[in-house]
Amino acid sequence: MPKTIGIGITGGIAAYKITDLVSKLKKNDYEVIVLMTEGAARFITPLTLKTISGREVLTDLWQDSPEWKVQHIGMAEEIDLLVVAPATANIIGKMANGIADDLLSTVYLANTAPVIIVPAMNSNMYQKPVVQENLNRLKSHGCTIIAPECGELACGASGPGRLPDIEVIYQAIVDKMHPKQDLKGKKLMVNAGTTCEDIDPVRFIANRGTGKMGFAIAEAARNRGAEVVLIAGKSSLEAPEGVEFHTVWGAEEMCARMLEIQTDCDIIIGAAAVGDFQIAAIAQQKLKKKDNETQQLILELVGTPDILKELGKKKRTGQIMVGFAAETENVLENARKKLKSKNLDFIVANDVTMEGAGFATDTNIVTFIDKNGGIAALPQMTKYHVAEAILDRIVDLIKK
Ligand code: C5P
Repeated sequence: MPKTIGIGITGGIAAYKITDLVSKLKKNDYEVIVLMTEGAARFITPLTLKTISGREVLTDLWQDSPEWKVQHIGMAEEIDLLVVAPATANIIGKMANGIADDLLSTVYLANTAPVIIVPAMNSNMYQKPVVQENLNRLKSHGCTIIAPECGELACGASGPGRLPDIEVIYQAIVDKMHPKQDLKGKKLMVNAGTTCEDIDPVRFIANRGTGKMGFAIAEAARNRGAEVVLIAGKSSLEAPEGVEFHTVWGAEEMCARMLEIQTDCDIIIGAAAVGDFQIAAIAQQKLKKKDNETQQLILELVGTPDILKELGKKKRTGQIMVGFAAETENVLENARKKLKSKNLDFIVANDVTMEGAGFATDTNIVTFIDKNGGIAALPQMTKYHVAEAILDRIVDLIKK
């Protein structure tokens, strides 16, 4: 589920660096709302931030908002985290003392989400006792302060006051938004999308798999600290940042790639819609149509490798394997058979004929069946939340 980050930029020379932070957050599927003080708008234009964030940049407490009835309240309610970066001595002083005389200081008061403050200023200003007292005060109010770095400052002085690397700020945001790091140290491989089987150099057979479920699993696992390998068949989705991404075409290639990577994986999840048939003999040239409407073309199909079954044969002790069973009838019965034949720890069954479940939708309705017979039916939820539920169950299995 994308989180919404409010980024409050104040008037420091480091303001321009925040464009990289916003861009990185956007690439990683965060929604970003930028607020700028008057001072910030002297260093960098709201238009730049509007272009990168894809949303209107808020600068004025009195400006009418098409999005919210009362702008500062509506905005404060929408965000999951407020980051003030760079934070000047001025905004720190206002926030520490309850002054609300511009949009950012007012949103800070209306906001109930966690707050990260990244001070950046001249080192004498930063070290001034009143600024330190204000920062300590904000810390005691629950704000997270990321200390500035030491080094040469834009004003020519040297000392503490430089904005930390964008990567440091980004990581602090991720840690706040995804405090569950229960897959740290685990390697997880997941496949996704549809496989494609060539008929001739132009045509192929594929299915309705879009990759939404598998990509959501990759993203959720990455957010929980796992090292993630995503093996994708055909899909139009962009790989989540920080994930090892392999694209493959047919079931055989997908199978071979996963067998290569299997050994040091702790967790393997089969979310791909793997085709069950491939063409017995792929035509070397494009098949030509005949000139009459009654023409017939008979394609001879043979089976593809059952990837999970092949991986299941090589499953080592402690390796956890999870599959999906997308069914149109006798869902539980069919899922139980697959669970057994593929040597899985549990299977995620769904009836693809139900509204809000299956291919191409953003939601799914699934039932978990585990190898000991345990069964849990989940309500309709987003694919990201289904991914979270799968990972919760895997973490429980690891603990056992
Ligand atoms: O046997 P069936 O295709 O219904 O099983 C579904 C599960 O098995 C899914 O997790 C799918 O990714 C996986 N599968 C596979 N190789 C196949 C067919 C399905 O790994 N050839």
